[in-house]
Amino acid sequence: MAADVIVRKYRQKDAGPLCVLVVRSVKQVASYDYSADQVRVWADRVPSRERMDDLGLDGRLRFVAVDLMDEPVGFADLERNGHIGYFYCAPEVVGTGVGRALYEALEKEAVELGLKRLFVEASETAKPFFIWLGFSVDHKREFEIERVPIHNWAMVKLLSAS
Ligand SMILES: CC(C)(COP(=O)(O)OP(=O)(O)OC[C@H]1O[C@@H](n2cnc3c(N)ncnc32)[C@H](O)[C@@H]1OP(=O)(O)O)[C@@H](O)C(=O)NCCC(=O)NCCS
Repeated sequence: MAADVIVRKYRQKDAGPLCVLVVRSVKQVASYDYSADQVRVWADRVPSRERMDDLGLDGRLRFVAVDLMDEPVGFADLERNGHIGYFYCAPEVVGTGVGRALYEALEKEAVELGLKRLFVEASETAKPFFIWLGFSVDHKREFEIERVPIHNWAMVKLLSAS
């Protein structure tokens, strides 16, 4: 993993930086695989700081990769039913193992919770990453956001209880 990055649980002060991180990740990383219009409508859906903080009210677990200054460089969450909602790395750390570190923390908790299955709607950009992690594609999802056609991939991984 990138040197000097650790994964810890979400703290309230992370909300603002995570909103910025997610928008940057969409605009600078996912933009390799999506059109300008798709990136625009996707980035517009990133929650406000207040909403980002409130997401935890449903009991989801949130994992934040931080640098030495405790600044977030990656973010993932795990809902209690095994759904992964958010999975984003800052553009400057993409490809350095931060995503893998986030996933390892997430899967460890999932196993401890007794979850049998993880599932995610992975972006085109994240699809190879999730395949590498042992997920398989269930189906392609084609939908619209603000009348802009876009797609992602429903993917699933069965967890073994070992
Ligand atoms: C998907 C994402 C979180 C992956 O994070 P990351 O930090 O780049 O992932 P890692 O560096 O830990 O990669 C782990 C392994 O996954 C594989 N992998 C990751 N991205 C890959 C890609 N685009 N193509 C092929 N393999 C890839 C690599 O094999 C890598 O292992 P290696 O370093 O030994 O080669 C990151 O690319 C991202 O933030 N993307 C934009 C936002 C997005 O689309 N989020 C998904 C919403 S569902």
